[in-house]
Formats: sequence, C-alpha cells, structure tokens
Amino acid sequence: MIAHRAGRLTEAEVGYCRVLRSRPNEPSALRFLALLHFHRGEADSALQYLSRSLEHEPRNPRAWNDLGGMFISLSRADDALAAYRKAVVADPSFAEGWYNIGICLRDTGDLEGALDNLREAIARQADYFRAYEALAMLLYQLGRMREAAETYLEWSVRDPANSKARHMAAAASGQNVPSRASEDYVRDLFDSAAGKFDLNVEQLSYRAPELVAAALASHASERPLLAVLDAGCGTGLCGPLIRARCETLVGIDLSQKMIDQARARGCYDELIPAELTAFMQAHPNSFDAVVCADTLVYFGSLDEALNAARTTLRPSGLLIVTLEALIASRNEDDRDAGIESGVGENNDGSTSADHRLQFHGRYAHSEAYIRRVFGDTGFEVELLIREPLRKEALQDVAGYLVTARRR
Ligand SMILES: C[S@@+](CC[C@H](N)C(=O)[O-])C[C@H]1O[C@@H](n2cnc3c(N)ncnc32)[C@H](O)[C@@H]1O
Repeated sequence: MIAHRAGRLTEAEVGYCRVLRSRPNEPSALRFLALLHFHRGEADSALQYLSRSLEHEPRNPRAWNDLGGMFISLSRADDALAAYRKAVVADPSFAEGWYNIGICLRDTGDLEGALDNLREAIARQADYFRAYEALAMLLYQLGRMREAAETYLEWSVRDPANSKARHMAAAASGQNVPSRASEDYVRDLFDSAAGKFDLNVEQLSYRAPELVAAALASHASERPLLAVLDAGCGTGLCGPLIRARCETLVGIDLSQKMIDQARARGCYDELIPAELTAFMQAHPNSFDAVVCADTLVYFGSLDEALNAARTTLRPSGLLIVTLEALIASRNEDDRDAGIESGVGENNDGSTSADHRLQFHGRYAHSEAYIRRVFGDTGFEVELLIREPLRKEALQDVAGYLVTARRR
C-alpha cells in the first residue's frame, strides 16, 4: 500500500499478489489490486477483483463506493447508483455514500431525490463539507434562495477557515459582505477552473475580451501603444485580440494555473502571478493602457484598485474595464434569501446601492457609482455603455464597458 500511494504500481502489484498467494480471498488485497488495475486502464480485471473482494466482505461501504466510482467512470450511471445504495445499506453512517447517491440523482434529473440524499450526508456527518456546497448550489439552481443561503451559512459556521464557504455565505445571505473577494477565494476558484475555463466561457457566449479589445483598438488605431497591462489576464483570452496594438504586453493574475494557460498562448511578453492592486501600486508610471476584463467583478469597492491603476498608468493612460451592472430594483430572489432591505453603508462611504455582492459570488456596480468612483480616483470617463457580457441560464448578463483616461 505504501508503494501504491507513492505511485510505484509494479511494486505494489507484486505485494498484493504475494498476499493473495497465501490468502486468495483477502478482501483488502483484492480491493486495492482492483483499484490499481482500474487506474492502469484495465477495467474488466478491476471489476472482477472488486467483486471478489465484496463477496468476502459485503459490509465494507468503501468497497461498494469504489465500485460506484468505477461505474461512474465507465458511464454506467444506474450501476453506480446501485453500488452507492449498497454502500449506505452496509453502513448507514457512511456520508460519502449518501453524497454520491445525491450527485448521481442530480445528474440524472431526480433533483428532489438529490436534495434528500445530500441532506442525509450532512445529517450523518456534519463535517462532510462537499455536501453543503453541492446542496447549496442545487438549491440555488432550483431558485430556493433562502434554503441555499441557510446552507452556505451553516457550511461557513462549521468550516470557518474555508474561503469559499465564507464568500458564498456572504453572497447568499447579504451578511458580513467583504469589500472585495478574498485572495484565497479567487485563487482557489480559478486554480480549479483553469483547465476548463475557455470551454466553459465559450458555452456562455462570453464577450468581455472582445469588448475590451474593440475599445482598445478604437484608441490605438493609429500607432501601437507602448506598454499594456492585462490585469487579471486569466487564461489570456484578451492576449491574441490586443497583441498587435502593444509593443509590450504584460499579464498578471492571482491564479498560477490561469497564468499557465495564458503562457501556452505565447502572446504575452511577461506573465506574473500577482495581486493586481499591489502590483499596480508597486509599478508607478509604467503602462500606457491597462485592460481589465471581467476581473473587477471580484471587487465591491473600486477605489483601491482604481487608485492603483492611476498610479501605474502614465499621464493620459487608458483604463478599459468591464463590470456587471447592478439593477436598481431589488428582486424576489433577494427577499426570498432574507437579505435585508434598505441601503447599508460600506466602510469606504459607498452604499449597497453602489455595489452589491450577488448570489452567484460576483459583485455588481451601479452606473452612478462607477461614474463617481472613476472621477474621484482621477479618471475622465470617455465611454460607459451597457453591454451583455455573457449568458447565464440562457439569459444575458448585463454589464458595463468603461473606457477612462488618467487625468
Ligand atoms: C473571470 S476571469 C477573467 C480572465 C480574463 N480577463 C478574461 O476575460 O478571460 C477573472 C480573473 O481575474 C483574476 N483575479 C481576480 N481578482 C484578482 C486580483 N485581485 N488580482 C489579480 N487577479 C485577480 C482571477 O484569478 C481570474 O483569472
């Protein structure tokens, strides 16, 4: 097992087989040999070893759970569900089994069944945290905002060190809303999204990079801009659209995994893992333009980031950003979620009518606030237009494209 965990599969296999020569029905040796074969792509022999293990140890929930996992990988959803059900019959306190039943039911469209089983996972093991997240997201998709908010809050209380639990609890409940998303939250979110980011945003008809690139092109049509910073460059979707306009193009991002994807595009002169506010403050008078596509949506108050942008821009430098639009009227979802009505004041003097952390975890900003905060931080707004940024649940997400010049 030590060799197996260290990835020395041949050595591990020799060890398991030696056990099985003296004790041919030893359930653990059969089970781990099954997992080894499965990871090596030998599904048939894996299933045979695991079935033999279960014949001799039918009350081992983990072995049933492994069988379910193999069936999921083989796209045999019904068999997987049956295996997970046997896991919880073998041991009703096995939270992972309830969770996996919930996920199987969710993926096959039995959403009420999924909710019941995810709740059961939590009831069986209060610190089985992935069940809170899956349950809250499913409730959100079903429009049951109050229950989703309660689930996120319970998760954050039980798992206070978890930045995602804290952020989503604030987003869903309107309580303890931070002035911007924490760096840990953003880094974890995008490190785990990096591999599928481009595919996901393509499916959402994501437009922020093209909007930003068109705005930059309209200002830089005559001559290439000298130095451009892509702040929150992500996987580098802006890069190919703006490269020809720049003499040098620098990308920065909190997520190393997003940066790795951007590097593969090969169109940035420099890619630096960094927090954008700190980076811009530390590089005064360095850029002719800063583009920031779909990134300030992780900031509520914008003054710190905009002050930093003014610092890093050369005189008359351009700042081009997209933001999500805060629609003035409160909607049913918010009331349902129990978010307090009325206008609250934030630490920087802005109010909840200026920006709001939305249920899905990003901030939206009002047009009046955007105009005010750009003006207050030393920018002349040259263009502020409403544009759809992407689709969510087949609906356009309304945003703003802002082009501003350092005064
Ligand atoms: C939605 S993605 C957009 C990426 C890219 N601009 C695009 O349009 O495809 C937001 C990116 O901003 C980064 N980000 C968010 N807050 C940041 C911060 N404070 N400093 C640096 N990067 C940040 C995230 O890591 C993520 O890669």
